[in-house]
Amino acid sequence: MKRLLAARNINWRQDGKEILKGIDFSLQPGEIVGLVGPNGSGKSSLIKILSFLLKPTSGKLAFRGIEIAGSAPLDLRRRIAVVFQEPLLLNATVFENVALGLKLRGTAKRDIRPAVEKWLDSLGILHLANRNARSLSGGEAQRVSLARAFVLRPEVLFLDEPFSSLDAPSKERLIEDVESFLHSTKTTALIVSHDFSDILRLAKRALVLIDGRIEAEGRPEELLMGSHSPCVEIFLAHWKK
Ligand SMILES: Nc1ncnc2c1ncn2[C@@H]1O[C@H](COP(=O)(O)OP(=O)(O)OP(=O)(O)O)[C@@H](O)[C@H]1O
Ligand SMILES: [Mg+2]
Repeated sequence: MKRLLAARNINWRQDGKEILKGIDFSLQPGEIVGLVGPNGSGKSSLIKILSFLLKPTSGKLAFRGIEIAGSAPLDLRRRIAVVFQEPLLLNATVFENVALGLKLRGTAKRDIRPAVEKWLDSLGILHLANRNARSLSGGEAQRVSLARAFVLRPEVLFLDEPFSSLDAPSKERLIEDVESFLHSTKTTALIVSHDFSDILRLAKRALVLIDGRIEAEGRPEELLMGSHSPCVEIFLAHWKK
């Protein structure tokens, strides 16, 4: 199968520190991959590089077999959506926050409202449509951030800890919604989570990033059963119990 996104020997150095080291990675169309690792291991940095928001110090990135050197063209960036670990919401209503990406893409005004309302409804936040997005709770803001990405129908979706501020029952429901969204739209996704059980649930393949290196990779359930280097064992021990 042709790769949708490929990264070869990616390194990222910042403030004299090697943050990402020799990352080789690819996403196949429609694949859902999990990315796990301890705090500070480089997960968010890797997401920013793979979504063309941050330029690696060295290494190559290709989208559908075409190497992307320098900044990615706008039409390519528009096929990618990122849900950031810290939702960056504008000082505007929830509706406007979710509608903005469609407006920027030139979507007809009459098509914007139904699309935005559909996702606000699916994510259980339609009643917040006219609230200022800066006044929301952490979990509500995460939902807005997800709606803002889903409404764009991206080809590739990067989700950085999308469930971290949700209470357990909400998280359960939202994971079901995300799962059905990804499958029904065949969206390719990379999901970062601190909770390996989310990855077991959503992803067919997972990467373990430790200190900027991919130290293990495989089917999530096999990662839990297999034996690995000591640093991976220490990280996975919590879920192996
Ligand atoms: N812009 C930056 N300048 C300098 N250092 C940075 C920058 N961004 C990230 N770092 C450092 O790079 C390392 C990896 O950070 P990153 O945010 O990618 O980790 P993470 O795996 O997402 O962590 P977490 O699980 O806490 O979200 C950290 O040590 C962080 O302090
Ligand atoms: Mg992070």
